[in-house]
Amino acid sequence: MTGEAEPEELPEHVRRNRAEWDSWAVDFVADGERSWKLSPGDETWGVWGIPEASLHLLPDDVSGLDTIELGCGTGYISAWLARRGARPVGIDNSEAQLATARRLQAEHGIEFPLIFGNAETVPLPDASFDLAISEYGASIWADPYRWVPEAARLLRPGGRLIFLVNGLILTLCSPDVEEPATDRLLRPYFGLHRLEWSVDDSVNFYLGYGDWIRLLRSNGFDVEDLVELRPAEDATTNFKEVTLDWARQWPSEEVWKARKRG
Ligand SMILES: C[S@@+](CC[C@H](N)C(=O)[O-])C[C@H]1O[C@@H](n2cnc3c(N)ncnc32)[C@H](O)[C@@H]1O
Repeated sequence: MTGEAEPEELPEHVRRNRAEWDSWAVDFVADGERSWKLSPGDETWGVWGIPEASLHLLPDDVSGLDTIELGCGTGYISAWLARRGARPVGIDNSEAQLATARRLQAEHGIEFPLIFGNAETVPLPDASFDLAISEYGASIWADPYRWVPEAARLLRPGGRLIFLVNGLILTLCSPDVEEPATDRLLRPYFGLHRLEWSVDDSVNFYLGYGDWIRLLRSNGFDVEDLVELRPAEDATTNFKEVTLDWARQWPSEEVWKARKRG
């Protein structure tokens, strides 16, 4: 399945992130394979592997729900939702990531539609889904002023939006190199939106808390929660940009939960 615009029609940040993710996909295969194996109740979130059983980020019962994962990568969250009885669809901007997702679908015998395209313009009708979800997907790689209205369009009244992003304080304290965050504010909070890093050609998007709330509310969402993730005392990560000591003191990951009014 493809929702593909011609590359020259894609926004510049989408083209740049596609090239980067096509080259990085090989490094995310092992994580995809590990995460696809997790059964209901054993799922873990984010770079610290925090159990769903303690966070309850997913609705208690997703059986029969139509779900869309915005920036699904290797597709493991949609696989979790499928095992819990949902009808998932995944969209991703990288064919290479989707190739891993398709292989893992075949290996696990869990098939669901995978769309190659930009989560800012999803080629599906209005009000098709009950849940939109993103873990480090469109939530950080797409422009929130484009993907949040698109999520609102895709959701039915009462539908849920759940997305995980880097902690805002982490973003403010991250040097522009692949080194751990410090305990110093290194960039301004006001005006946060599009960020580029000197180490690669990707483009990320971050908003201040007030801007997130205004954006969600103006697109018909009520904010239900902002869950700040704190790793366990003995947690480990492969992620080089934050240490356990840092993440035990400040949230390195945050999850927004919102519901479409209706
Ligand atoms: C860190 S992965 C997150 C996905 C999933 N949680 C995982 O770890 O496999 C980020 C994904 O976002 C995708 N992505 C980036 N920009 C996107 C966009 N505009 N639309 C859809 N997907 C996008 C990338 O291609 C990549 O597969």
